[in-house]
Amino acid sequence: MAITDVFAKDLYKGKTVFITGGGSGINLGIARTFASLGANIGMCGRTQEKLDAACEKLSKDFGVKACGVAADVRNFPALEVSMQQCQDGLGPMQVLVCGAAGNFPCPAEVLSPNGFKSVIDIDLLGSFYSCRAAFPQLQQTRGSIIFISAGQAFLPYAMQVHVGAAKAGIDNMMKNLALEWGRHGIRCNSVAPGPIEGTEGVKRLLPENVRDQMIESIPLQRLGSVEDIGSVCAYLASPIATYITGTVIVADGGQNLPGSGHFTHMMMSAMG
Ligand code: COA
Repeated sequence: MAITDVFAKDLYKGKTVFITGGGSGINLGIARTFASLGANIGMCGRTQEKLDAACEKLSKDFGVKACGVAADVRNFPALEVSMQQCQDGLGPMQVLVCGAAGNFPCPAEVLSPNGFKSVIDIDLLGSFYSCRAAFPQLQQTRGSIIFISAGQAFLPYAMQVHVGAAKAGIDNMMKNLALEWGRHGIRCNSVAPGPIEGTEGVKRLLPENVRDQMIESIPLQRLGSVEDIGSVCAYLASPIATYITGTVIVADGGQNLPGSGHFTHMMMSAMG
């Protein structure tokens, strides 16, 4: 079922949604969901060409305005410029999605200090920088922030020490910002996706030879789709969720319910 069969097609008409890392994967899927409900889309990412292609397609497919200005979320001044330019073209953002992330599987004992730092910098610092740079716009619109978290935030996963630390930090920060910024009318929530079909995350974390095994281990017996995550974001930012702040919504088909032992076993056997 399409989201436009459930939510009004103009739910986000005239509103701006800014998505970090919006040029691909889950984040582009989230952009498409909001655009299908009428939102104008601002985005940043590291590669301008990728952003341009994504924005052109969003405008063509949904008839909305889209603006992408390259910025690495680790670079605060660049983020400020990107957000300002999107505001100039689209108006102040109503929704910020902190989606930019880095991930690779690596055993803790061989992970270099810089490898650990890189993921913390992109995911955790990058999310704070994004919120900090977006605050004036969100204060003006009394908007909402959605963080893209992961099961690694609440369960230890083998070869994911860097990601677990970063995502747990994000969920804690989400609650702190919900606490502090509620008085500005700004709501903050996290979405924790499971494995999502066709994404870089699945390419990196789900070796082809254990794919079927992984699917069997998920209670809902399938990988997620980018639309599954886009729908949760569209709900969280909508006027029917206005009393929800400081929460994590897990959208993983139940993947994390039995724990991460299955993942550990699969990774160990797939990677030797
Ligand atoms: N295994 C172990 N270490 C790795 C690694 C891997 N697969 N990939 C990168 N690293 C280490 C590098 O060796 C480097 O450490 P060093 O200086 O000690 O050698 C450090 O991580 C930084 O790597 P670099 O490639 O310079 O960083 P970057 O900023 O260009 O890229 C990453 C950031 C590493 C997170 C990269 O994987 C990335 O750009 N990811 C974005 C896309 C993505 O991960 N999508 C999935 C999201 S779920």
